[in-house]
Amino acid sequence: MKKKTIISAILGVVTMFCACFGFAGCTDDEAKDKIPEGTNGKALVAYFSATNTTKGVAEKIAVATGGALYRITPVEPYTSADLNYGNSSSRTSKEQNDSKARPAISGSVENMDEYDIVFLGYPIWWGESPKIIYTFLESYDFSGKTIIPFCTSASSPMSNSGSNLHSSAPNAIWKAGCRVSSTAHIDALVNEIKR
Ligand SMILES: Cc1cc2nc3c(=O)[nH]c(=O)nc-3n(C[C@H](O)[C@H](O)[C@H](O)COP(=O)(O)O)c2cc1C
Repeated sequence: MKKKTIISAILGVVTMFCACFGFAGCTDDEAKDKIPEGTNGKALVAYFSATNTTKGVAEKIAVATGGALYRITPVEPYTSADLNYGNSSSRTSKEQNDSKARPAISGSVENMDEYDIVFLGYPIWWGESPKIIYTFLESYDFSGKTIIPFCTSASSPMSNSGSNLHSSAPNAIWKAGCRVSSTAHIDALVNEIKR
């Protein structure tokens, strides 16, 4: 399959998410069997997840696209006290209020050069992406790569959380992305890829 075809096929996934189609149908295992050859290694699904909701969505996107999964792991893990948004002195409250906060990441993506498309997932924290997403974006050269943000949240929409990231990877080709429900199913995505 030609590179251009692969890229447009993977981009179809975004359209599907954002169109909010009904994700009913086959199981994830069945969908996995339908993944066409040739998409492996072109898409990276990078995500940060404090309580594993975004992780579940990221795994579905990786299955649907044949992309490689990369978990953005903080050097200092977030404890439940850190995640207490009811406490204005908690770590997350302080970080989210500090425009310069860049929590350190443990490890790195091997061979970032191989990827044309980066799905970038995160939980909404106070209406925004966690600051570690900025750390991630500022750690690599995303020139010419397509970045598709996606988020999970209790109820908040993606809002400007995606567009606010643009300045940290100004040479990337940014897509709008969208909030994804943790119950989203991947069969519709796989069908789109097959077109
Ligand atoms: C510090 C903090 C702030 C949050 N702020 C919001 C918010 O503004 N709006 C919202 O809908 N959910 C908010 N949430 C809930 C998370 O976005 C939601 O539970 C998300 O799916 C968690 O993803 P994860 O399990 O991948 O970390 C917040 C959670 C935390 C810990």
